Parts: sequence; structure tokens; C-alpha cells
Amino acid sequence: MELNELKQAFEKTYGKKASAIYFAPGRVNLIGEHTDYNGGYVFPCALSFGTYLLMAENDDQVMRFQSLNVPEKIVLNLNQLEKPLANNCWANYPLGCIAQYIKRGFAIRRGYDMLFWGNVPAGAGLSSSAAIEVATAFAFADLLNAEYDRTELAKIGQQSEHEFAGVNCGIMDQFASAQGKKDHAIFLNCDTMEFQLVPVKLEGVKVVVANTHSPHKLDSGAYNARVEQCQLAVRQLQSKRPDLKNLAQLTETDFKAIESALTDETAHRRARHVVGEVQRTTDAVAALKKGDIAKFGQLMNQSHVSLRDDYEVTGPELDAMAEAAWKIDGVIGSRMTGGGFGGCTVSLVKDEAIPAFIEKVGKEYAAKTGLTAEFYVAEIGDGAKRIE
Ligand code: GLA
Repeated sequence: MELNELKQAFEKTYGKKASAIYFAPGRVNLIGEHTDYNGGYVFPCALSFGTYLLMAENDDQVMRFQSLNVPEKIVLNLNQLEKPLANNCWANYPLGCIAQYIKRGFAIRRGYDMLFWGNVPAGAGLSSSAAIEVATAFAFADLLNAEYDRTELAKIGQQSEHEFAGVNCGIMDQFASAQGKKDHAIFLNCDTMEFQLVPVKLEGVKVVVANTHSPHKLDSGAYNARVEQCQLAVRQLQSKRPDLKNLAQLTETDFKAIESALTDETAHRRARHVVGEVQRTTDAVAALKKGDIAKFGQLMNQSHVSLRDDYEVTGPELDAMAEAAWKIDGVIGSRMTGGGFGGCTVSLVKDEAIPAFIEKVGKEYAAKTGLTAEFYVAEIGDGAKRIE
């Protein structure tokens, strides 16, 4: 949808013009999966698609939430902004962010009419929910004159996800949406929140996202279970390293020396993934900086295997998609991206191989799963902004 159409949609919905328009992107993670809530490294980039939020003040002392993507309309009084809505209502994503401002001591004295529209495919593991959260966090920072930096806006989005959506997620998605930069990926240390923007303008190579359109997705139960298994691993490892705070503090050598403390077999495999993935992410970024894209691709493939065997968050559809990609000449690397189970893979593909990639991977994937894949050549875009 063009901006003008969105403005018209706002006028049609609310009978007045929008006074401000915000945008926050979805993200694709190149490597560093399920490391963020373990204090590890991630390497995501913001996409050029995301969520638009149009808004205007009202005199009715109510917050109105509408979306062009979902039929459900929500109207809340200003004294109803601190509790999540029932039945996983979509409006919990923006509402949870407004609630964070109230928690931080801001008084919400005005009502707003809001209209959301997003072009990140929902449920595809490309952070459509983080895009809604960061757009809302950014908008209210602006409206309330909150002098928050982008890292703080990401935290507001993450807290909304924890408290209003029930997912104990890490910071990666909201951070990428808030801090993204065109043609760069973000090398983020999720423990210290220090980050570097690394150029991803690859000569003759594109980032291709393949959507499995799988009905399974990583639900909050399976995700939160992974978070708890990692916490259990830390507690068991503390019997040998009492000072251990998170799994990302361990090098692979440190881990080998104390892994016998992991009496829980599942926790053992989860921890092995995290420790290995943190190392792979560091190595991948170093390889990219040296221009060694082949190495980067191998690390992506290894990341997928570890997420499949040790972390168990891939599933038949993501495995079928990655395995099909690995067979194509001109594919430098391919792996699942995001939380897992369903959603997307991310691949680095040489320009000349892209048509064959789309055709052959699409065919093999359909033959194995009966599902139709969808492919996007990703454009790496900027983080959240006010458009008007
Ligand atoms: C989801 C979460 C992120 C991160 C990824 C896995 O996208 O929201 O915080 O944990 O899964 O890397």
C-alpha cells in the first residue's frame, strides 16, 4: 500500500487526517539464533518492510486501535491501558508498549486514534510483532517527549512482549527494528547491548528469504521452554562455575571442561547449541569483515544443523527448505532464521543463481511438504522513523 492510500484509509476510518505517521521494520537474522536471551551475540538486519502507524489525537479520552491487517477493533478508556486484553488480541502489542510508558511514570492525558498496517508476513518469523511494538514505542516517545534512545525503545517493545504477549523473548527483534541501518547488519552483544553496524553490501550476492508457509510456528510455550532449559543449564553448570551468569560467557573449551555437570540431557544439548552459536556468530562477522563470504556461508549451514539437532527448533518444513538450498550451485549458505518451527530460511545466493534457486528449491520443497514456498530478495532497510 502506498502512503497516500494509508492516509486515505485513516481518513475513512476516523473521519479526519492523521497528524503523524511512523514506521518500524521487521528483521531477518543472518546468524546468532537463540543466543540473545543467553547474553550472546546476534547478527540481524532490518528489512525494508514493516509496520506503519498513523495517528491523531482525539477529544474522547479513549485509545482506538485499528489495523488494516486484522478486523478486530479495540477502544479503551485511558484507565484501561495497564492490563493485557484477553484471547491473544493483536492490540496487546501496541497496548503493552503504552503500558510501559505508564509504568515509567508518564501520564497519558490524551486519547489517540491509531491505524496500523504492516507488510511483514505475519507468523513468518520476520518479527511482524516487534515492528508493531517498536512503531508504537517510537510514536509514544515522540508524543510524550520521552527522551529515550533507540535501545530503550527496543526494551519497551521487549517488555511489552513479555508482559502483554507472554513470550519471554530476547532483545534481538526489537533492537533490529529500532537500530537498523540500510545495507548494514547489527552485531549486537545482548549482554552489554554494545553493537556495531557492519556493511552487508555484498558483491554479486543477495540475501534471499524463503517463507515455508508452514502452519507450525514457535508458540510461546515452546519458546519459553527453551528459555527455561537454558536457565536450568546455567544452574547445573554453576556447580562447577559458581560465577556463571549466562551460557554465552563460556567458550567452547570452557564448556567442554564443565559440561559433565549437565545431568539433564536436554539442557546439555541446548547449552551446546548456544555456546557453539555464539562462537559461530563471532567467526561469521570476522569472516564477513575480511570478505570471506564462503566461510560465512559454511557457518550459516552449521548454525542450521545445530538448531535442528541440539536446539530442536527447525521441524520438517525448515529442514526441507534448507536442505534443498544446500544442493544449489551458487548458494553460499542457508539456515532457518528467527524463533523457528515454521517461518523462514535466510540464504546468501549469487545473483546469477537466484532464478534457479527459486525454481528448484520451490519445487523440491513442494514435493517434500505439499506446501508452496514464497521467496523475497531482502532489501536491508533503516530502523524505526517518523515519516510525517
Ligand atoms: C524470536 C525471539 C528473539 C530470539 C529469536 C531466536 O525471534 O523474539 O528474541 O530469541 O526468536 O533467535
